This record gives sequence, structure tokens and C-alpha cells, in this order.
Amino acid sequence: MSVSVIILAAGAGSRMRSACPKVLHQICGKAMLAYSIEEALKISDDVHIVLFFQAAQIQQYITDTFSQHSAHITLHYQNHSKYPGTGGALMDNKDNGDNKDNGGDIQGTMKGDIGDNKEEKSPFAMRYDKVLILNGDMPLITKEALQPLLKSQSPIALGVFELENPTGYGRVIIQEGQITQIIEEKDAQEAIKAIKTINAGVYALDQAILATYLPKLSCHNAQNEYYLTELIALAARDKISIEPIALNPKNFMGVNTQSELASVQDMMLDTLRKKAMDQGVVMHLPHTIYLEAQVCFEGACEIEMGVAIKGKSHIIDSHIKAHTIIEDSTIKDSHIGPLAHIRPKCAITKSHIGNFVEVKASHLDGVKAGHLSYLGDCEISEGSNVGAGVITCNYDGKTKHKTIIGKNVFIGSDTQLVAPLNIASNVLIASGTTMTKDAKEGDLVLSRVRQENKSAGFWHFFKKDIAKDS
Ligand code: UD1
Ligand code: MG
Repeated sequence: MSVSVIILAAGAGSRMRSACPKVLHQICGKAMLAYSIEEALKISDDVHIVLFFQAAQIQQYITDTFSQHSAHITLHYQNHSKYPGTGGALMDNKDNGDNKDNGGDIQGTMKGDIGDNKEEKSPFAMRYDKVLILNGDMPLITKEALQPLLKSQSPIALGVFELENPTGYGRVIIQEGQITQIIEEKDAQEAIKAIKTINAGVYALDQAILATYLPKLSCHNAQNEYYLTELIALAARDKISIEPIALNPKNFMGVNTQSELASVQDMMLDTLRKKAMDQGVVMHLPHTIYLEAQVCFEGACEIEMGVAIKGKSHIIDSHIKAHTIIEDSTIKDSHIGPLAHIRPKCAITKSHIGNFVEVKASHLDGVKAGHLSYLGDCEISEGSNVGAGVITCNYDGKTKHKTIIGKNVFIGSDTQLVAPLNIASNVLIASGTTMTKDAKEGDLVLSRVRQENKSAGFWHFFKKDIAKDS
């Protein structure tokens, strides 16, 4: 589609009260900004992102995450000291001399990292006449939800929706059926605050509109900023047609505070869980299940309450029982939990992992580890049984070491496997063993102090107390 997209991500995000840049806050394991960029790239091959506050950190994230799209992304730096605000973000962004901490520093590193580093103009040098502007704090947007805006033939299409509690949003003023202006919360009188039609923060407009009206923006408002929303009032005054496009709030909720971030994450979770259930995944008390955006399911899966599945996890034909945590791992044909912790880089197949078992960076194939174990950096093969309380001692204080365990190994309860260790197939390890040496096929491994029972030792030890009690 022939549209350029601009994502505004240069704000301070001060209402988040966080050291992390607002647009890098995570929603279901992915930075808020990534959702906007991904959807923008589905719509356009000409995506512009405006940065200023904590720009170096955000730029790094973009270059790391979207390196394969570098030809389609151009970064710009807002001249914030001269032109603050959402309108200012699109004004003269060439001269960043005032800003040594952010713009001054990153101008150099940007070259070659992303895009072809076109020289920025005011307004930007964009490939297409139609421009879609998105606030960077709306992670629920989708390509589909943006279609009505893109289909509009008007020189300006403005995304609007109704909210029972519109606090924080710009109110859209409509007089005699025409949009006349947008009034920001901080500039609004009580009567205006009662208006429930709000500006979503998405605009599809002709590039010519930007060229005409950006230079005319003023900063006479409560925040002394150049509001992009003033462009609407200026164009309305010139009788330019502004088409309101009614949007579904579910896709356009803005994030300005931590509680809005949490609500938006809840909405994202609803979407992710529904997608999984539509695919046939059985979920018990789904509202208690946490999923991240990159998790995928295959085949017949069942997920119980309180489960969290994170990162790039892949769950295939498996049953994940209550309150289990799985991170960046692949689970196939297995039963995991309740209360198990599968940490990153695990591949677990045809296995049963029970309660209070922690597994990290391990490959388990056809293994039973039913209770209270730590299995780190190990490979365990088919038919092996890990008794209760078995621990791999994989870290010597300096380096991590591997434990390799063959087929049909029986590891008795409370065994410590001091890595590095190679245990061949068909080995029996007695309960309570501290194993420091490799074992060959057929071995019985035993390392414990022989038990001694002293006859009447109890009475000898407790003699006086027992006499007193009786
Ligand atoms: C903005 C709109 C408001 C709308 C709401 C929808 C303005 C003035 N107000 O308010 O009408 O209802 O979004 O969510 O546009 N940004 C910059 N440079 C800046 C300031 C902000 O790039 O100098 C970026 C921010 O990083 C953010 C976006 O613009 O991604 C919106 O800014 P924000 O401060 O969140 O505006 P809102 O108060 O939410
Ligand atoms: Mg906002």
C-alpha cells in the first residue's frame, strides 16, 4: 500500500515514573514500540520513527530487533528543545545541536545501522503522499484495525472513539456535524472534559497537509508544546474536510501510566489466550494464565490455572499443570508441573516433570523427574528416572559444567551429581550418593557412610528428660 507511516516515540513518558523509556516497557514480553513497528511494516515499506528522550537506548532496541527491515525504517530526532510536543516531533528535526546527551550522541551511530539515513527535512522526506501518523504508545493496534483510516479519501482522517471514562485523552469537538478542534485534557474546562468522544492518536493525512500546517502550529497551551492536534483546528478553519473514523477502543488504548500499561497487557493477554483456545488449546481459568507474544502451541495442549509461558516457547501435545513457569523452551509430548520451573533453553520430550522441579538448559527425552530436583545443563536419555531431591551441581563458582546421562539410569533420591559428569546407560545410583566420577554401563554407584545402629542409644541420650516426663 502506498502510505508512509510515522511513529511518534520521542516523548519523555514522565507519567510512567520509570527509568525505562516508555515505549520500551514490555507488554506480554515484547516492547510496546515493537507492536507498532511490526504493524506499520505490514502496511508500509516507508516507516519513520521519531526519537528524542532516551533515544540511544530506543535506537539500540530498534536496530537489534528490526535489523532485517533496516531498508524500510528511518529514524529521526526531534529538535525537542526548540519544538517540544507531538506536533514538534514532526517539525524541524535536523538541528540536534542543543541535545548532546541524546541526538548529538546518536547521530553518529545511526549511520549505516538502520535505513539509508536519508537526510531529514521538515516535514520528513517521505516516499508517499499519504501519511499515517501513530502515537508510539498504542501497542494494541493492528493492520486490520487501521484499514478504515487508510481507506478514507479525505485529506485528513482522524481516528476517534467513545470512552465512558475519557480522562487523559484529547476531546474531539464536533459542531454541526463537523470536527472543529481537539482540546487536550490539560487545556479543557469541566464542560469539555465531559465529552466522551476522544482523539485516538492516529491520523491519515496528505503529506501536503503536513507541509502547510506544521509551520503554523503554536505552543500557546497549558504545556507550552506544539500539539499535533492543533493541526486539526487550523485545517478545520480553512474548511478542509476532516473525516472522523470511528475505531474500536480495544485496538487504540493509549499507555501513559503504569496502570494503563497493566490494563493494556490484560487486553493483549485476552487476545493471546483466545487465539490459543481457538486453535484448540484447553485452558483452565484462562484469566489466570500468562502468555507472551511469541509463545506458540501445536497439537493437543492443556494448560492449567496460574501457568506462565514466556519468551519463544513452543508447546506441542503437552499438559502444563497448575502454577508452572516455562521460559524460552520447547516441550513436546510431556506433562509438566504442577509448580515446575522450566528455565530457558530446555528441550523436553516424552517426559514427566513434577512439582518443585527446576530445569535449565537441558535436553530431556523420555525422562521422569517427579519431585524436588534441580537439573541444570544436562542431557538425560530415554527411560531414566530422577529420584526426589536429585541435584546437578553444575556450577563450581567459576564455570558451568554439563551432566550427560544415558538411557535407563536410575538415580536414587537425594543424589548430588557433581558436574562435569558422564553417566553411561543402565547405571544404578544409590540414594544419597555424592557422585563426582563418571560411571560406565552396568555400574552400581554408591557413596555413603555405612549406617550404624547403637542399641539403647535413645535412652542413653534422653534419659533424664524421659524420667522427668513420666
Ligand atoms: C495524545 C494526544 C491526545 C490523544 C492521545 C491518544 C496530543 C497533543 N495529544 O495525548 O489528543 O487523545 O495521545 O493516546 O497529541 N511524543 C513525541 N514528542 C513529544 C511528545 C510526545 O514524539 O514531544 C510522542 C510520545 O512518545 C508518544 C506520542 O507522541 O508516543 C503521544 O504522546 P503522549 O505524551 O503520550 O500524548 P498523550 O497525552 O497521550
Ligand atoms: Mg499517550
